[in-house]
Amino acid sequence: MIDLVLTGGTVVSEGAEDVADVAIDGGRIVAVGAPGTMPAAREVVDVTGHHLLPGAIDVHVHFREPGYTHKEDWATGTAAAAMGGVTTVFEMPNTDPPTRSVAELRAKQRAADKAIVDFGLYGLLAEDNIGELEALAAAGANAFKCFMGNTFGNLPSPSTGAMLEGFEIAAKTGLRVSLHAETASIMAWRQARLEAAGHNDPLSHIAARPEIVAIEAVSRAAVLAEWTGARVHILHISSAGELRPLAEAKARGVDITGETCPCYLHFTTADYDRLGSVIRVNPPVREAKDAAAIWDALQSGVVDMIATDHAPHTPEEKINPVIWKADCGFPGVETQMPLMLTEVAKGRMSLSHYVRIAAANPARAFGLWPQKGRIAPGADADIAVVDMTRRETIAAARLHSRGKITPYEGQETIGAPVHTLVRGVFVQKDRTLVAGREGHGRQVTDIQRMPDAAPRHEDQSLAAILGTAAAA
Ligand code: NCD
Ligand code: ZN
Repeated sequence: MIDLVLTGGTVVSEGAEDVADVAIDGGRIVAVGAPGTMPAAREVVDVTGHHLLPGAIDVHVHFREPGYTHKEDWATGTAAAAMGGVTTVFEMPNTDPPTRSVAELRAKQRAADKAIVDFGLYGLLAEDNIGELEALAAAGANAFKCFMGNTFGNLPSPSTGAMLEGFEIAAKTGLRVSLHAETASIMAWRQARLEAAGHNDPLSHIAARPEIVAIEAVSRAAVLAEWTGARVHILHISSAGELRPLAEAKARGVDITGETCPCYLHFTTADYDRLGSVIRVNPPVREAKDAAAIWDALQSGVVDMIATDHAPHTPEEKINPVIWKADCGFPGVETQMPLMLTEVAKGRMSLSHYVRIAAANPARAFGLWPQKGRIAPGADADIAVVDMTRRETIAAARLHSRGKITPYEGQETIGAPVHTLVRGVFVQKDRTLVAGREGHGRQVTDIQRMPDAAPRHEDQSLAAILGTAAAA
């Protein structure tokens, strides 16, 4: 007797959609095949008419704990993920304290004890913790995060010198470095000039952070990645301009990936009047031509994946007539899948391509493949069972996140995850959170450190010259 069979659904992979049953035992998928051919199971759930997708892997969420639990905590954040068909999240280090040492990583792991879905944890890569990076990697950080530009948490951006050393070290750990790729000095200069001249309206946020800040940061990060062999990931791609250095670096063989978030596909400068400071996010939502170029790049593969930058704040923190005083970001982990399935329903993207950008590509980029990101024998049974016809309306009040404010308020969606399974266990069933699942989520520990890792110019690295390199 095995644990569970999901019968009658359509299994979606990157290449195909097939009517098939899925057999699950001990948290793993043990068989996928023709209805009626599965081993006997203790539980059989009929999902006829629904689609089975590998659960979404969202490599960019802010769950705020420790430090800002009035905005979110690990229980509410992962509840939102479970409701959104997201089975693994990678959580960012701009908490209080930030995740910049082994002790702070341990504190984050304790906070995450109540997680409902699986998770990875970012360690910070900053100027003041260069000496901690190897220890963070050894202690179980799943990736590094480098804030090239200021954003919520106000963590100082490392100089290019510190970044280079950070990349030298990261290259040897085999972990990916995710970049908030906006250049701090350009933004600080421009914001000061704008503020001094009394510019306080929502569009001034873009004036302070124009496209060039992303182009400059992505270009610089790509050059440092190519030089050191560090593998990097560009977070929240917002502009047409930064796609060029990203595509060029890929063509040169740099191990660089990129994500965008739904807001950069759906909103433009035309929405600032209506949404005011609610739309304030770093990097900013830009012009229609940017959204169009990012859509194309998501189809062509220049942009590898969809993430959410789930960044909850309270309504009081979000709404302010002075744009500089409104907190940046909004929740997203619960609404990404319904919003993107709506695009599938409209014919803008195939369901298979959605599986590629929401699950398979993030799994590959962050070393989880082939254990996660696909529905196939041997993989974790992380599954979003989706009703492609289900119509819903997004309402902040109903979100499971503590961040009860979203620019998508009132937005109608077509398609939603009606069940979510994490390692074979229902964490969401029939659009309702399953009680008692806190603590089911686990940190992804057997992450692959990409054995083809090839640090470059190692002889010129500071560790080699100063003789501080750890024995290989
Ligand atoms: C994020 C947050 O609030 O933590 N805010 C945002 O505007 N995106 C930080 C970030 O990802 O830049
Ligand atoms: Zn960011």
